[in-house]
Amino acid sequence: MIESKGWDWKAVNGESKNYWLTPSVESFYLLHRWKDNGYTSFLDLGCGLGRHSILFGQNGFDVFAFDISKDAIDKTKNSAEELNLNFNYKIGDMRTLPYANESIDCILCKNVISHSDTNGVKQAISELLRVLKPDGECYLTLGSKASENFKRNWPSIDENTTLLMNEGPEYKVPHFYADYELIKKLFFAFKILSVYHVEDIYEIDGIVHSSYHYHVLVRKSIH
Ligand SMILES: C[S@@+](CC[C@H](N)C(=O)[O-])C[C@H]1O[C@@H](n2cnc3c(N)ncnc32)[C@H](O)[C@@H]1O
Repeated sequence: MIESKGWDWKAVNGESKNYWLTPSVESFYLLHRWKDNGYTSFLDLGCGLGRHSILFGQNGFDVFAFDISKDAIDKTKNSAEELNLNFNYKIGDMRTLPYANESIDCILCKNVISHSDTNGVKQAISELLRVLKPDGECYLTLGSKASENFKRNWPSIDENTTLLMNEGPEYKVPHFYADYELIKKLFFAFKILSVYHVEDIYEIDGIVHSSYHYHVLVRKSIH
């Protein structure tokens, strides 16, 4: 299995940094959904700069902020402390989560789980299943095989995984790409509640790029 590699958050500045400080569109839906479900414990898996930890913390959740990058955890902690928010912080690898079985109500794992190879992704998903309480939910995004980057001639790790070769915070970080059939296999032990295939369109130096992600909402169903 390939070694895990966190983000170099020092290489993230300017507009890009603002993006990673602003909660994602779906996080507001999840906040309401998971409050209505009566959930209280929230795991921000691969928390980055902590935009979702802060959102859920400000709305009464017990937040578990987790990332492989010490820098990410330090930055999340600084932001939380400025707002008088008190979280549980852990540095580690998503393939071996430092939480007890069935201890977490809900998990958000946005743009994280694809930072591994096929075996690593499978191991991380088995950890999600282990730490979620019965009837707990997880929302995660996975890179899609429809993305330009999957079709490039970048070094391949296995049939679903390549190394990203763009300069920047993800240089040489493995990226796993899925399709719907693979998603059904990966989440066979969960109830799949929804799958969206989303195209992100952005411009760099006047050139339009796009990438596709699957947004997956699953429940650890006991029924
Ligand atoms: C694209 S950022 C997303 C951050 C955050 N989820 C958000 O939406 O703002 C990916 C984060 O996942 C972390 N990460 C990458 N591989 C990881 C692993 N194996 N275990 C835990 N965290 C990991 C990176 O260090 C980085 O902070």
